[in-house]
Amino acid sequence: MDKINLNTPAGNSSIIFQEDGLQAVKKWIDDKYPSSRIVIITDTNVGAIYQTQLANTFSGALALSVQAGENTKRLASVKQLATELINDEITRSDIIIGVGGGMVTDLAGFIASIYMRGITFIAIPTSLLAMVDAAIGGKTGVNLEAKNILGTFYPAELILLDPLFLNSLPDREFKNGLAEVIKYAATLDSSLVEDLMKDEVELLTILQKSAQAKTKIVNDDFKESGLRKVLNFGHTFGHAIESISEYQLLHGEAVAIGMIYANKVAQNLNKQAPEVGDKIKELLDKYHLPTEIPSGFRVEDLVEFIKKDKKRSGDKITFVIAPEMGKYEMVELSAEELIKLIQ
Ligand code: GLY
Repeated sequence: MDKINLNTPAGNSSIIFQEDGLQAVKKWIDDKYPSSRIVIITDTNVGAIYQTQLANTFSGALALSVQAGENTKRLASVKQLATELINDEITRSDIIIGVGGGMVTDLAGFIASIYMRGITFIAIPTSLLAMVDAAIGGKTGVNLEAKNILGTFYPAELILLDPLFLNSLPDREFKNGLAEVIKYAATLDSSLVEDLMKDEVELLTILQKSAQAKTKIVNDDFKESGLRKVLNFGHTFGHAIESISEYQLLHGEAVAIGMIYANKVAQNLNKQAPEVGDKIKELLDKYHLPTEIPSGFRVEDLVEFIKKDKKRSGDKITFVIAPEMGKYEMVELSAEELIKLIQ
């Protein structure tokens, strides 16, 4: 498999898998949009490594760089970047390519979706987390008070998943992405367990299987009215843990702990055999992902966060569990019920 299609009411994405894939992106643009100008949005970390390669491939492109870090994912950056687009006379028939981790692809996708009411967007994720999750599925956004409060559903027309970018990724960031792959193994594709248990993971295989799992869900429920919530396995507690740690824990690390909580809930509901929870923990342990809340954390604080979060989205929490490896079930629980189930 070298290509997957995502088909949504807001447009379609082609996801291509290719080592050294920048040339393939260039060719795609030359074939489809030969007279468009190209804007590359990246951050200071990714730019420092790939600037020359990007400039050589997309010669003449307008290269814009933002400060690396989640703090950049805000309206001030949107305004600054959009002003640069205006100053450079970028029009509606031009193209924005976001090259970077989830922060960059979310931010660049958001700008592409609103600049002159929407211009073509291409995503080149460079972190494992962005490759297997953030860059696929059309969610864009910036933070305001909370994460992703301002955002759009705007699929990238082309997404390049190139495992060679992962060579420059720090080990902790790589494992951060593996937590989301373990999420797919637990809820959507049990064949990933075998892939993840190998001494050396085959990157192309896990990228393809993860992208396949995610696109299958997003194809059926683009705007998250139901099914797409399965992608939140481990995220109810994960988001709480991530936020309470003040983002000292990475997203995947927090989700890893959240998956352990999800197993506890499932087992207390008599909906998961202990072997299933043990297998998920074994995978997390193999990649040295955390499985316990750090010392100093109070369960009461997690509960408070979840309750507050609920105020934004309604009474009951749609909580995702994995009754069997590679299967999912959604249970509706109040925050109070959820608290009892993690004791
Ligand atoms: N990251 C979850 C989703 O794309 O829906």
